[in-house]
Amino acid sequence: MRLESHSSVATVAHDAQLRPVPRLRTCGCRGFFPELDLHPKGQEAMDHQVKGGGNSPVFQSDMLCFTTDARMEKLSQLESSGHAIEAVFWLKDLMTQWRIKGTAYAIGDPKRENERQEEASSRHPANLVADLSDPVARANFRVVVIKPEKVERLDLTYQEDGKRWSWKLTGGSCDEDAEWNQTEV
Ligand SMILES: Cc1cc2nc3c(=O)[nH]c(=O)nc-3n(C[C@H](O)[C@H](O)[C@H](O)COP(=O)(O)O)c2cc1C
Repeated sequence: MRLESHSSVATVAHDAQLRPVPRLRTCGCRGFFPELDLHPKGQEAMDHQVKGGGNSPVFQSDMLCFTTDARMEKLSQLESSGHAIEAVFWLKDLMTQWRIKGTAYAIGDPKRENERQEEASSRHPANLVADLSDPVARANFRVVVIKPEKVERLDLTYQEDGKRWSWKLTGGSCDEDAEWNQTEV
């Protein structure tokens, strides 16, 4: 599935009095983990520099991804807030808003040994930098994976009669047991 869109991404920060405060920013959506859309230059770099050229299309998930730089504040905010995140997409052509609530985790830190997703995440730097050997870009590049827990859809096709649906993930922490339960609100 190709998702060429931007979302508003909210995290929780803390002010000087340690009160929780919202922080919001725009981020580009890179699709669902682990299969991501790559910039053609990035794909070329991947083919040359990464063994196997990246991920084979074997796995699928409900986990949306965006890329970021480790020096941005959102990563420390995730760490200090139980990884809480919310993302909102407004798809004007479809007159539909999607809201995704869950937790998010950054992967791709080259300093972390035995990181199981290392090879998978190595696909992502190609979205931003063509030269994957650039040490600064490589060291700071992260993929943020959103594990959704609740999803809401608002359809404003007929504005006087907006429709809302909500899905909640239930049935256990293992992905095999998990189920999306839909309700119309
Ligand atoms: C159109 C647009 C797309 C953006 N895409 C991203 C993105 O994919 N990842 C990202 O970390 N920041 C992206 N940014 C920058 C963020 O909005 C934000 O300014 C930056 O990440 C620093 O935020 P933070 O310090 O709160 O983490 C984008 C900004 C704009 C305007």
